[in-house]
Amino acid sequence: MSLDLAIRPARNLLGALRLPGDKSISHRYAILAALAAGESRLENFSTGADCASTLACLSALGATVTRTAAGMINILGRGPVLAAPQGSLDCGNSGSTMRMLAGVLAAQPFQSQLIGDASLSRRPMARVIEPLTKMGASITASDGACPPLRISGAGLRGMDYALPVPSAQVKTAVLFAGLLAQGETSVSEPVRTRDHGELALEAFGARLTRALGRVSIQGGQPLHPVAMRIPGDISTAAFFLCAAALFPQSNLVLDDVLLNPTRSALLDVLSALGARVSMLNVEDRLGELAGTIRLEPRPLGGVRISGVQTVALIDELPVLAAIAPYTEQGIEIRDAAELRVKESDRIAAVAQNLRALGANVEEFPDGLRVPGGQPLKGGEVDSFGDHRIAMAFAVAALRAQDQVVIRNADAARVSFPEFFETLEKLVER
Ligand code: S3P
Repeated sequence: MSLDLAIRPARNLLGALRLPGDKSISHRYAILAALAAGESRLENFSTGADCASTLACLSALGATVTRTAAGMINILGRGPVLAAPQGSLDCGNSGSTMRMLAGVLAAQPFQSQLIGDASLSRRPMARVIEPLTKMGASITASDGACPPLRISGAGLRGMDYALPVPSAQVKTAVLFAGLLAQGETSVSEPVRTRDHGELALEAFGARLTRALGRVSIQGGQPLHPVAMRIPGDISTAAFFLCAAALFPQSNLVLDDVLLNPTRSALLDVLSALGARVSMLNVEDRLGELAGTIRLEPRPLGGVRISGVQTVALIDELPVLAAIAPYTEQGIEIRDAAELRVKESDRIAAVAQNLRALGANVEEFPDGLRVPGGQPLKGGEVDSFGDHRIAMAFAVAALRAQDQVVIRNADAARVSFPEFFETLEKLVER
């Protein structure tokens, strides 16, 4: 089923909002809860289809997953040894599910197969196959590098691994494998990526040694269950913050949002563009920071994003590029070749959609340049089956001159099924 949705131009964005829990944290907490001895209680669990894929795989691996109320998930773990699944484990559209579970399955005393939808089946998996094979697992993939992944688990040996690509999914997969391996596993990364894997392992009771750019874990540590309220997803918040930034009279307050410094670079970029962003009531929740964000718009200047900032903003780049035509000096994004191997080729998707709405865009192998001062016309764009592209163009549509139809808009369900109705509640026309 595919849904096309028309978004009409808006005048303003006003209100307060609490968002479902962060997707990156929800995946990690669910997986570690399955490996813990006892029952964990996860409040404000992500409502997205991706995290539902993780929960379904964990059930198939013998964890008992119960939804007790809206957003409340209890997971009764099995300890480090899971149950052999009956059939293939379906990761749906979720790269996080496949890569992080691969780290756990590599150490299990059974064979398993991870499958995904058409988009996931094209995504690169050599980045997890290589380190997990070095630790002792045997993994085969289609064409050597793409799903399905057939994993024969083994007793793993710890190792010292330098990540060739900055990827938090791969770092987490290796650390999860390291938890279940013999001896010590260390991962070093060329550029700092999100550290939810490290924080979650510590929250469940594992001891890690963390230094700049390097983290080590001793294998064989038992995990205990936790109770956690997962902070709202800051990558989902990004769409509402960027939408509010487009209108001079907007006023947006987001409560209980994730403010982990490895994830909040968007707030720095919005400030650099000119918006007034404040953070209030910041608190520490098992190592993760959460708090309130208030955004008051100002005219948006321009910005160039590259290097470490690109890595920190990887999931927010599509929406920044989509609002770039409304800035004064435009936005240039470089060092972002990874965007081409996400749920869609996000560089090509953004460029094609912006051009469909009348903008000039310069596309590079590793990014794009979108000049400012280009009012977008109405028209038709496509999500390319990618949740972040669907939501990015719903935001851009709010300031277009005429209505914009988003083809396959239901892709948004992957991270935030309630996106369009939530946006409509905040928008003034
Ligand atoms: C994620 C890491 C990033 C990000 C993805 C979630 C994570 O992917 O794009 O949405 O939770 O670790 P990579 O690890 O491929 O960079």
